[in-house]
Amino acid sequence: SFDEVPGRYKVRDLSLAEAGRHQIRLAEHEMPGLMALRAEFGASQPLAGARIAGSLHMTVQTAVLIETLVALGAQVRWASCNIFSTQDEAAAAIVVGPHGTPEDPQGVPVFAWKGESLEEYWDCTEQILLWPGSNGAEGANLILDDGGDATMLVHLGLQYERLGTVPPDTLPGEPDHTHEMNVVRSVLRRALAADPLRWTAVADQLLGVTEETTTGVHRLYQLAESGELLFPAINVNDSVTKSKFDNKYGIRHSLPDGINRATDVLMGGKVAFVAGYGDVGKGAAEAFRGQGARVIVSEVDPICALQAAMDGYQVARIEDVLGEADFFITTTGNKDVVTAAHMTAMKNKAIVGNIGHFDNEIDMAGLAQVPGITRTEIKPQVHEWTFPAADGEEARSIIVLSEGRLLNLGNATGHPSFVMSNSFSNQVIGQIELFEDSKRPEGERTYERQVYRLPKVLDEKVARLHLDALGVRLTELSKSQADYLGIPVEGPYKPEHYRY
Ligand code: NAI
Repeated sequence: SFDEVPGRYKVRDLSLAEAGRHQIRLAEHEMPGLMALRAEFGASQPLAGARIAGSLHMTVQTAVLIETLVALGAQVRWASCNIFSTQDEAAAAIVVGPHGTPEDPQGVPVFAWKGESLEEYWDCTEQILLWPGSNGAEGANLILDDGGDATMLVHLGLQYERLGTVPPDTLPGEPDHTHEMNVVRSVLRRALAADPLRWTAVADQLLGVTEETTTGVHRLYQLAESGELLFPAINVNDSVTKSKFDNKYGIRHSLPDGINRATDVLMGGKVAFVAGYGDVGKGAAEAFRGQGARVIVSEVDPICALQAAMDGYQVARIEDVLGEADFFITTTGNKDVVTAAHMTAMKNKAIVGNIGHFDNEIDMAGLAQVPGITRTEIKPQVHEWTFPAADGEEARSIIVLSEGRLLNLGNATGHPSFVMSNSFSNQVIGQIELFEDSKRPEGERTYERQVYRLPKVLDEKVARLHLDALGVRLTELSKSQADYLGIPVEGPYKPEHYRY
């Protein structure tokens, strides 16, 4: 059952709002960056006139982001960017708003609940782009995306509209995700039947997108390279204060959180296999090591493989460790990293999970097709897959978390507030940048149909906003020291190519 007013909101249960509000209040204390931006920009209202369509995990931390955007003047509509990642109490609190009641909700339209079907997921994504009564004329003018699904829906919608039909086969820009793409197609087919120019209207309004994650940014660069990107994009992920913090330290916290809440299996003394040693893989490996596990990493990039080795991890291929590892975690943003054949050969009761953005890292469809396999629900988002027993042997099984979707958000509540305050401060600054730039006369604008990172001074500003809360006393450069290094006293302190 749902609490729903069509076009206004659709969440699990508005009576959860009070519980959500308490969590939001505590999270605000842990999100000094967002609260500082409210203090800095609350009076000047830089987002007045902005209509933001947000597609990002509807958690408590995201609730603080949404209310920050509203405090800066924006109108907002929100959906989650994953079927399992919504915290229903946070969604309820946002719909009710700080001053409303469940009987008289006064907050922001949210279309999200934990455990959506794929059909429901794409309906919700469509809902954030279609503002009621607007017929597209006053639709969303900015997207705040995580993984690029809202951005993709607009691009595909427009492509299909130009063709006058939704073709059955893959178009450029479509992910390699056959079942899910069929769902997207059906949403677009319905939209096209209702209004043959809907996506033209939506796309015409859009001034830009800020993108949260590695995978979404990757899609944006592909669109920009092929000349198909419809509006300017800010790559929030590659702010240093995002990917070097959220992707690494956030995962270091939320990966073990997800595994513990799902299974409560001890990590100490066990063998953990981590596929990928990028920012997320580094955080994942460190988390396992911190718990006393022996960690084995796989990589395709020789630089990252060498880093892993220097950090003291064994580097191997998954094939080499199938009978050895107790945990298999994918962090690559790539597809087909754990295959059905791999899973068939894993140790009994091995725990398998993904923490990369999409669920195609683990071949769940292939696993379901293994002859004789059975699936037992231990609890939601925790499934035991049992292989048929060979003669005279006991049946072996593996435990798969969140059906192969990102387990830190499916089995737990994602990253903690403090690290998300860094990521989301970049998001807010990115939204302000795009919106202010769009008000300048054409020809005087900074942002074209390309992908941009925020300037380093703003990145440094986000870090600065988080120092006091941790008791950090920063050393100040003297003028003569600054001159000696050839940098301004107030920063930026590093050249663009510096890697941290
Ligand atoms: P990254 O690009 O820094 O790291 C990915 C690494 O995987 C690269 O070093 C790459 O060489 C390696 N890789 C690619 N294919 C591989 C294969 N077949 N076997 C072994 N290694 C392989 O990306 P980052 O920032 O670490 O993100 C990884 C994924 O996690 C992305 O999908 C991103 O969107 C997602 N993400 C998820 C978060 C969460 O809360 N669950 C938070 C942040 C990012």
